Amino acid sequence: MANSLMKKYITWFNTYVESFINKYPDLSENIKLKAGHSHKVHSEIIGLANALNLSENEKFIAELIGLFHDVGRFNQFIKYRTFSDSELQNHADLGIEALKENSVLKDLKPKEQEIIYKAIYNHSRAEIDEDKNEKVIFFSKMIRDADKLDIWRLITEYYMVREQKTNKTLELDLPDSYDVSPDVLNAIVNQKVVLKRSLKTLSDFKLLQIGWLFDLNFEYSIQRVYDKKYLDKIFDTLPETDKINQIKEIVDAYFDKHIKTLPI
Ligand SMILES: [Fe+2]
Repeated sequence: MANSLMKKYITWFNTYVESFINKYPDLSENIKLKAGHSHKVHSEIIGLANALNLSENEKFIAELIGLFHDVGRFNQFIKYRTFSDSELQNHADLGIEALKENSVLKDLKPKEQEIIYKAIYNHSRAEIDEDKNEKVIFFSKMIRDADKLDIWRLITEYYMVREQKTNKTLELDLPDSYDVSPDVLNAIVNQKVVLKRSLKTLSDFKLLQIGWLFDLNFEYSIQRVYDKKYLDKIFDTLPETDKINQIKEIVDAYFDKHIKTLPI
């Protein structure tokens, strides 16, 4: 249950989303998908905040970051008809712009606003920007984990129904091929972040999503992706080639290292 302080922010968010749906009914499917994702990331970050024993105020900041992290997706989609960021536009920047334009955070202290803006900025970058403020780093880590946890939910649900209902926007319009690009394989084998610019096929994108495991910041998140079997579900959509099996072994070893199993 969200803190009662959150209610007005949730209402603002829902009204904001409604305005896009009313104006662009043809685009409502993807708008609703991102709105749903935002609410789920809000829930995910509450779970993480509880696991980390945050104070009420810290939890409130985390919740706002969770709810608003993708608020730029709506402008991005109606302007550019894509969820693929480019040098010209990044949905995190568009989100910060939307929050500022609408004075959404005006009742918060400047320090709190700064943490929220910076965490939103950092959520979509390959890496978190250096910052002297430890809180910025901490909340950036939180949103990056909570976001990944819900994208895994969203895409594994999608891969289950993809044959019947393809959504090319969710696949970043990448060609449906089993080919794996060398840069992608190389990054994942070395447990490095797969860069979006190295994506050439849908399989590359799926491997990028699998590789997010190595970028998780909290043990809680590793346990959660393991319990939810999200990565197994992505592997199920990939062919059993040597390359894929090699990645599976790396993933299994990573889980073995991090997951606490009860003694038999
Ligand atoms: Fe995002």
